[in-house]
Amino acid sequence: MRGRVNFNTKKVVLGGIKDYINEIRRCRRLILIACGTSYHSAVATRQLLEELSELPVMVELASDFLDRSTPVFRDDVCIFISQSGETADTILALRYCKQRGALIVGFTNTVGSSISRESHCGVHINAGPEIGVASTKAYTSQFLALVLFGLVLSEDSISKQSRREDIIDGLQKLPELIKEVLTCDQKIRDFAENLYQKSSLLVMGRGFNFATCLEGALKVKELTYMHSEGILAGELKHGPLAMVDDTMPIVMIIMDDPVKTKCMNAYSQVQARGGQPVLICNNDDEELIKLARRYIAVPRTVDCLQGILCVVPMQLLSFHIAVLRGYDVDCPRNLAKSVTVA
Ligand code: G6P
Repeated sequence: MRGRVNFNTKKVVLGGIKDYINEIRRCRRLILIACGTSYHSAVATRQLLEELSELPVMVELASDFLDRSTPVFRDDVCIFISQSGETADTILALRYCKQRGALIVGFTNTVGSSISRESHCGVHINAGPEIGVASTKAYTSQFLALVLFGLVLSEDSISKQSRREDIIDGLQKLPELIKEVLTCDQKIRDFAENLYQKSSLLVMGRGFNFATCLEGALKVKELTYMHSEGILAGELKHGPLAMVDDTMPIVMIIMDDPVKTKCMNAYSQVQARGGQPVLICNNDDEELIKLARRYIAVPRTVDCLQGILCVVPMQLLSFHIAVLRGYDVDCPRNLAKSVTVA
């Protein structure tokens, strides 16, 4: 955020795209394309981008996007998100869209990477070098960069002024709040002690935190080799509920946001089948804390930024489970930091 967000004037400047903003605002749709964790950062910010830009926003896995030969037009804006800037599927999707005349915007963490060179314009994520194979700080930074992008797109909208200001105030407090989340480390380690010998972990949530579930489950898979699934709580009745019993380890993310009532419904359904989820909830949600037997409480921020705080306990949980299982958290088996073959 440093150098990009002025917290006094509540202005955001993204130098790498400022000459293209008008063209982006006039487009017919935004298509966000990425792989792995980078894809999850697109899922996490889609709702906010739709709200702030009032444009249709598609979110695509690069490999599937190419398999489908998806129609792309000159008035589309295609956004490629990649930590390394070298992921083969993402680069191939970029070239596919470029050939069809779309505007290409790159969001990468690597200055001079293929994606940053082949884009018309872009935003550097500036997370610093990420050494561990499983992406963590790149995820939160990509999330943040996409939020800043939404703020820039909606700059001229008077009706969105107060929402924008709330988000910018939220951004200012974020570093302090992340430090607060990190103080839960010991508690999270204790949960890991209970979980590390299990064979499966379900992570449930919805709304702004569906992406947190997908990303949390991916971290568990990558680092601990345990089966884990991120489940949209709204889909529970359409299948996943069959897996729930008193032996199934479950984490549920229930924030005090517009989908809380729906999440609470899912929580009751899970409990009715004997499930005893660990909740990730707001630390001032006394009503929920009273109900929960086991919980990790995170501070409250603006609904659309809450996912940045909620993913940290999931990152720590997978780290601790992996260490307890005796695995190398920096270099998980069978995975590479940068996947340069399609
Ligand atoms: C690999 C890494 C993941 C990463 C994905 C996309 O699979 O192991 O951590 O999310 O590639 O990488 P990118 O560099 O394009 O963000």
